[in-house]
Amino acid sequence: MDQYIAKTYTGLEQILEKELKDLGANDLEVQKRGVAFSGTPRIMYRANLESRVALKVLSELASFTIEEAQDVYTESKKIEWEKIIPEGKTFAIDTDVFSPFFDNTMYAALVCKDAIVDRIRDARGERPSVQKKDPDIDITLYIRDKTVVISLNSSGQSLHIRGYKKFPGIAPLSEVLAAGLIQLTGWDGESPFLNPMCGSGSLLIEAHRYARNIPSQINRKSFSFQHWPGYDEERWELIMKGAKMRVNRTNNPEIIGFDYNDDTVQGAKKNTRTAGSFRSIQIYNHDFFKYEPPLEKATVIVNPPYNVRLRVDDTIRFYNQINNMLYRHYKNYDNWIICPAEVNLRRAGFRVEKSYVVFNGPIQCQFAKLSFASKRNNRSGDPSHRKNRNFKNKDAQRGQKSRPTSSRANKNRRR
Ligand SMILES: C[S@@+](CC[C@H](N)C(=O)[O-])C[C@H]1O[C@@H](n2cnc3c(N)ncnc32)[C@H](O)[C@@H]1O
Repeated sequence: MDQYIAKTYTGLEQILEKELKDLGANDLEVQKRGVAFSGTPRIMYRANLESRVALKVLSELASFTIEEAQDVYTESKKIEWEKIIPEGKTFAIDTDVFSPFFDNTMYAALVCKDAIVDRIRDARGERPSVQKKDPDIDITLYIRDKTVVISLNSSGQSLHIRGYKKFPGIAPLSEVLAAGLIQLTGWDGESPFLNPMCGSGSLLIEAHRYARNIPSQINRKSFSFQHWPGYDEERWELIMKGAKMRVNRTNNPEIIGFDYNDDTVQGAKKNTRTAGSFRSIQIYNHDFFKYEPPLEKATVIVNPPYNVRLRVDDTIRFYNQINNMLYRHYKNYDNWIICPAEVNLRRAGFRVEKSYVVFNGPIQCQFAKLSFASKRNNRSGDPSHRKNRNFKNKDAQRGQKSRPTSSRANKNRRR
């Protein structure tokens, strides 16, 4: 059994743990932004191909403690690099260093690189080449205080890159975060899924892949582990074949998104085309505040603009309008919202049933399940009660007064 660590974003660790368990990983241990596990290379191949929330899968080579910077050189040189970096292959070192022994991470990488180069030169008389972009062998040097872990990144390029986002939109969600949010809702993959304000369509495409059990990296051409000595191509082919056979082509839940910006809608459609899900996802040009959703029930994820990248003049007022709209037309749905942690959802009138802390890039966010169940009896959460007390500006009530103008989506459905 080899030792691995799969990395993910804050808040998605439990989802990752479940995914790895389902793939057959052993000795799972949830860590901060990652899950350690043991398993065969087969599990590692599958984690790279099929995990929806892993960012990369690291294979541990060595771990040790240091008393001075030079120890990194001495210990790194003990690793049999000549067996790890084949002749003619390039390497790079990615660092995650926070230690009193190193003022800057570049220096730590340099010490480790010297050890690798010296070891290989001693072993076979040639100097391996460093290539920062797309190296064959991708090494990770992690140092926390005195603890050092050296690993190989089996994935290479981050696994959030699925290859379908030709149109990124203005403020896209990472594909990994989108896939993680969908799983946090507990969506069954069969009932309808709705994403108002869909932007580039990350949530829609990830929902489709989840529902059909399509491997997240179905379109990826290469992984770093394919450059490793001992890479078993035959096994990899079988794994790919097996994963493709497990795709559930007959599962066809309604997956609907809309956005009020037509260029964005066209871009999102392009993305679904690239992802191969164009026929299974409906995307419309609608304004959330003027549109009556077409479904009896659905899991809904709203990802409104943040005032960091998109301007929202009055955040609370804006979110209050979203709350009012959801209350009017979506209250029987399973509603979720992802927005910056600093947005006071309760002040905006929402009733939050549960909430997860997640990060969208550097922005700390809340992913909250909304409840409208007993709103009528809950004066503090009643929007008609709140609007007059909290908002002097009449605009604050616009969201409540506007009537949905568009007809049911059935009319618009692409058939
Ligand atoms: C944060 S982005 C969504 C990003 C999306 N999840 C993705 O992965 O690309 C917010 C989106 O909401 C859209 N939007 C803002 N106000 C809207 C409204 N009233 N109705 C529909 N869409 C709206 C914007 O055009 C933008 O594409």
